Amino acid sequence: MKKLLILMLSLSLVLFFGVGNVQAEYDVELTIIGGAVGEEFETTVRAAEMYMEENPNVHVEVLDSPDSADERLSLYLSFFEAESPEVDVYQIDVIWPGELEDHFLDLYEYGAEEYVDMHFEHIVENNTNIDGELIAMPWFTDAGLLYYRKDLLDKYGLDVPETWAELEEYAGIILDGEREHNPDFEGFVWQGSAYEGLTTNVLEWFASNQGGTFISPEGVITVLNERNQEMLEMAAGWVGDISPAGITAFMEEDARAIWHDGNAAFMRNWPYAYSLSLETDAFEPEDFGVAPLPAGEDGEPAATLGGWNVAVSQYSEHPEEAADLAFFLAGWDVQKMRATDASLNPTIPELYEDEDVLEANPFMEELFDVFVNAVPRPSTVTGDNYSAASSIIYTEVHSVLTGEQDALTALEYMELELQDLTGFEIGQP
Ligand code: GLC
Repeated sequence: MKKLLILMLSLSLVLFFGVGNVQAEYDVELTIIGGAVGEEFETTVRAAEMYMEENPNVHVEVLDSPDSADERLSLYLSFFEAESPEVDVYQIDVIWPGELEDHFLDLYEYGAEEYVDMHFEHIVENNTNIDGELIAMPWFTDAGLLYYRKDLLDKYGLDVPETWAELEEYAGIILDGEREHNPDFEGFVWQGSAYEGLTTNVLEWFASNQGGTFISPEGVITVLNERNQEMLEMAAGWVGDISPAGITAFMEEDARAIWHDGNAAFMRNWPYAYSLSLETDAFEPEDFGVAPLPAGEDGEPAATLGGWNVAVSQYSEHPEEAADLAFFLAGWDVQKMRATDASLNPTIPELYEDEDVLEANPFMEELFDVFVNAVPRPSTVTGDNYSAASSIIYTEVHSVLTGEQDALTALEYMELELQDLTGFEIGQP
């Protein structure tokens, strides 16, 4: 009887203090909405756990979000429309600071000076508005890369292609050979769906063929020229030939799925696909490599600058704590973990000399120049209008890929619509 009483007493004590503890444990609840492509979600959850270990009074929840950058932007805009405090920290694309700045806090007001200097200067600049406010902390950077199958290049006696024409030719040769025993085999997979990812692919085609970057940093529209027409015609010819007919609906993960199954000779993708490519059963780690993307006949390779940053919502009820979380996420430990576990490129240059990072990702050292020289999309010069400009670009290009429109007509429309939208002059790159 006495034992039972003691047991009941201790149970109620546990319950009483237990509940009290839960409240005490989480003085603050923060929510971050992060990326979902590849292993981004898993590593964000891991980062949140690292933060919670150091800050036991804070609970961090990670929300999932759509893979498509456009859909993610729409989702964010609906939170902002409602001035919702539901999300404290947003993972934002490198092209969004101009468009979303009104919804985020100036991180300098929360002590960002202490942290910004260790990051790539060009990304910090990208994230700073004209009033000198820091809209977001750099989190990881991206650049378009060419993934290739070494074993297949060897089998057919080919080298890594350096021009788009070589890529087309080599993909065709490998495709013809492999299809004989594998009907699912494709030559080249990339991102051809009508969304932001297509704009990033097209920028690489145009810029590497001396066709400009759609709109120059000075605000000149440079889309309509023979070089771009030539590239668009070439790319349209890939659809249903060296690339699947369905490529016009492909995003990053669709391309990677085919590559991952060993069914593609070449893939255009971001660095995140590297660590996942080491895990496939379809080919050995030594059977694939990454290189700069090809260029036009007399051009230089161009990799689109991508990447994501962490920003704190104006509508957060815990701005101090949310900023602290953003600084932690952008810091050395989390960036190192995400680089080693998921090939998400650091924005801290010193991490490109870190043994563990380089052991997991030798390409980060070999292709360092590609990352620092990546070509930005015209988001700074278009500011608020960037998404609309990009949507004009990918919609017109998509219509060429699907055969609805010829390349010249599409470029003419693109020029007109961009002019309408921005009021910028037209010119040559
Ligand atoms: C990657 C890039 C991002 C880009 C997106 C397009 O996530 O980091 O900058 O907008 O791909 O799909």
